[in-house]
Amino acid sequence: MLKIVPTTPYDDQKMGTAGLRKKSKTVEQPNYVENFVQSIFDTIGGVEGKTFVLGGDGRYFNKIAIQKIMKMAAANGMKKLIVGQDGLISTPTSSRVLLDNKADGGFVLTASHNPGGKNGDFGIKYATATGGQCPTAVSDKIYENSKNIREYKILDAPDVDLSRLGTQKLGNMEIEVIDYLTPYVEMMEEIFDFAAIKKLFAGGFRFVFDAFNAVTGPYAKKIFEDILGAPQGSVLNAVPMEDFGGLHPDPNLIYAKQLVDIMYSDNAPDMGAANDGDGDRNMILGKKFFVTPSDSLAILTDNYRLIPGYKNGIFGVAKSAATSTAVSRVAKALGIGYYEVPTGWKYFCNLMDSHRITFCGEESFGTGSSHIREKDGIWAVLFWLNIIAVTGKSVEQITREHWAKYGRSYYMRNDYDGIDVAVANKLMADLEAKLPTLAGQTFGDFTVRSAGAFIYNDPVDGSSTKNGLVVYFTDNSRIVYRLSGTGTNGATLRVYLERFETQDFDKNMLEFLEPLAEVARQIAEIGMRTGKTKADVLT
Ligand code: G1P
Ligand code: ZN
Repeated sequence: MLKIVPTTPYDDQKMGTAGLRKKSKTVEQPNYVENFVQSIFDTIGGVEGKTFVLGGDGRYFNKIAIQKIMKMAAANGMKKLIVGQDGLISTPTSSRVLLDNKADGGFVLTASHNPGGKNGDFGIKYATATGGQCPTAVSDKIYENSKNIREYKILDAPDVDLSRLGTQKLGNMEIEVIDYLTPYVEMMEEIFDFAAIKKLFAGGFRFVFDAFNAVTGPYAKKIFEDILGAPQGSVLNAVPMEDFGGLHPDPNLIYAKQLVDIMYSDNAPDMGAANDGDGDRNMILGKKFFVTPSDSLAILTDNYRLIPGYKNGIFGVAKSAATSTAVSRVAKALGIGYYEVPTGWKYFCNLMDSHRITFCGEESFGTGSSHIREKDGIWAVLFWLNIIAVTGKSVEQITREHWAKYGRSYYMRNDYDGIDVAVANKLMADLEAKLPTLAGQTFGDFTVRSAGAFIYNDPVDGSSTKNGLVVYFTDNSRIVYRLSGTGTNGATLRVYLERFETQDFDKNMLEFLEPLAEVARQIAEIGMRTGKTKADVLT
């Protein structure tokens, strides 16, 4: 039975860098999910006759939210919903399934790399027919509608059984429950040389992957162990759980502690890797060796010819402004297009659709290509495995040879967490006002060449986006400042530091970047304004 339910608006349903992301407790409030989803449906002119893709990373509230969304879709006249079995789907698979089925949109229920559980975070990523997350112009309209919503439509029906593959009906809507592994596995088999990687594992190559008890567990078991022949047990924390078994599914040196301990032990395997909650981020490790995401993007790009799926050529490459400049040198050497965009994967999508780029990446452990319109964690891991299988070189050797050829960008991100929102906004506004006066000034060893806001003019849709503030120094060092758009706890100030070096590749990263970190604090008056004398998180 169709119900029209009166509701009162929430005023905080604004999407951030990647969808709506909130505390689970916030999303559990009455009608919270319903308001947001109805606002989307209303903004896009309804969903009558449309097809959507739906699934999540399995975190707490996934099961409840997915039932609500299915019943709302049916009540709003949707024609068909393609749903991952047990309500699961990774972000990369969702993008693929959306494109393959020419669907009109999709939802991934995830707060990505944020912790899950009752006291953790929950989120909803909304993708359009392009397979990528909706552009800011659309999310702004959705936000406006969410502040005025008065009612939503929902079907009064029993819960749908999502364990059973195949087609069933909910009201007049068709629900197709799909095996979420197959479309993804097939896509990877088309791109990479699985035979070469199989041989690598058969030859005793030792590999370990941490899935943090999130959605990539089943993918990693199937691809790395069952198909490619890595020994059973190579995938750690492989069973999706509502609270990720207490783990924080963020693939970086701090949160992937179990993996990092293994990779820095004396008997370390040859390669280690991890993905985040919804499978779009990746971290790559060699024996006692960490590859920064910025370097990884540069290295993958430089080696594209080794991968069957790209051997006929790539269009170009893009990175977010905050990401290190390593890939810019590769693009120059290869003579391919090169773009710098604001932070957030959605900014890459127009460049991919218009065949300006094939690869792209962000410093925040995101790498991907135009095979989908999201970043792709397992894709990046397979890319590395493919390079290693073909060249016979180790992760460290590949990276060192890269530095020898192009120089090394020493690079680090400093996060100042939990700052009062008003204080953070004022800090950024005052800093922006002061930047034009900095050129020529010297701070410690660094002299400012130029400074200003990073403004991106999209060459495809003509939109203009301001994202972050950049200070360039005469020795090619850079500082980028921006406020996080994904946090759920006050404001997070991100400070990105980069120094370029052509000779000495064995400097201590922390020591080498500390003087620049100090300059960054000084220029933005971070200590005085926030009371923080050092960053809370270094990645
Ligand atoms: C963060 C990352 C950004 C990434 C986003 C979604 O956003 O910095 O690169 O696209 O998560 O995964 P931020 O919190 O910085 O806005
Ligand atoms: Zn993610």
